[in-house]
Amino acid sequence: MNADTKPWVLVTGGAGYIGAHTCVALLEAGYPVLVFDSLVNGSTEALARASTLGGGEIAFVQGDVRDRAALDALFARYPVSAVLHLAGVKAVGESVARPLYYHEVNVAGTLTLAQAMHAADVRTLVFSSSATVYGAPARMPIDESAPLAPNNPYGRSKRMAEDLLRDHCAAHPEWRLAILRYFNPVGAHPSGQLGEDPLGTPDNLMPFVSQVAIGRRPELAVFGNDYPTPDGTGVRDYLHVCDLARGHLAALHALPAAGGELTVNLGTGRGHSVLDVVRAFETASGQTVPLRFAPRRPGDIAACWADPSRAEQLLGWRAECDLDAMCRDVWRWQRGNPEGYR
Ligand code: WQD
Repeated sequence: MNADTKPWVLVTGGAGYIGAHTCVALLEAGYPVLVFDSLVNGSTEALARASTLGGGEIAFVQGDVRDRAALDALFARYPVSAVLHLAGVKAVGESVARPLYYHEVNVAGTLTLAQAMHAADVRTLVFSSSATVYGAPARMPIDESAPLAPNNPYGRSKRMAEDLLRDHCAAHPEWRLAILRYFNPVGAHPSGQLGEDPLGTPDNLMPFVSQVAIGRRPELAVFGNDYPTPDGTGVRDYLHVCDLARGHLAALHALPAAGGELTVNLGTGRGHSVLDVVRAFETASGQTVPLRFAPRRPGDIAACWADPSRAEQLLGWRAECDLDAMCRDVWRWQRGNPEGYR
């Protein structure tokens, strides 16, 4: 797409953790950025900082992707060339307790957005999906041909959203659709100005470790050390959020102008255990992270890491940051923003 054309790139959920980092990458590439966000889990402070870091203005409209009238009004007011759909809810544990909410936001929200896009003749979509659509895979590393067998409502909501988008693109081959299956996004912008700012107690490992290191929490509970992994703790493919942001631009550039669909895993291809993360964080921060071993967390799988070769082939993208860099950047963010954006 010609970055000089005015048509906006719309980022739903652009005021969130991944969204704000993606806005920086879009601005740096010269795209005009428009954000639509309900601010349920996003921050206008993050948008202001993303604008400064990216060196450009960000147009912002507050709203919810379930609100068709708001989306119609948005597309009527702004000429949009492409949509990056990152708005959604993503806590596995919460999805078990609130499945209808997760399906309403992630499935109905994606459906409403696609309907509004089609009505406005906007046909380019990059969709934020998740490795949780694979469930507990039979073999590792996971490539895109692995069966989709999610084992929680969050993963099922992402698979359903993928399915509805694939069905629409089959009926409208002029549509351009990229489905990005994120592995475990972590890290922070190297400036220390943007980072993950979970509401309440962090569900995810990295922000919890970071809050222990800065003294906001007494210790880390390691959920299980009896898994069939090298040190008994869970293994995941942690991906720097800035690498992930670049992956969205690479997907946008890779979509065929005439229409088509691609699905890729965005991961590093390397697995790290919980104890690997703790050790790397202690080295990066110079702080000790006290921990205790606790029972396994329901719904967790032992190990999960990506085969990222398809993303490299189709997008020319590969992750550049290693775990040490992820931990250094998280620590810089945490130290500079002990209470997040508040
Ligand atoms: C990682 C490892 C835990 C916290 C989640 C969701 C989903 C997805 C990626 C978007 C596991 C262990 C964790 C803690 C621990 N995002 N752990 N103590 O569950 O792999 O994936 O994030 O799609 O949100 O699926 O990430 O960071 O929660 O857990 O021991 O306090 O750390 O058991 O092995 P997960 P996580």
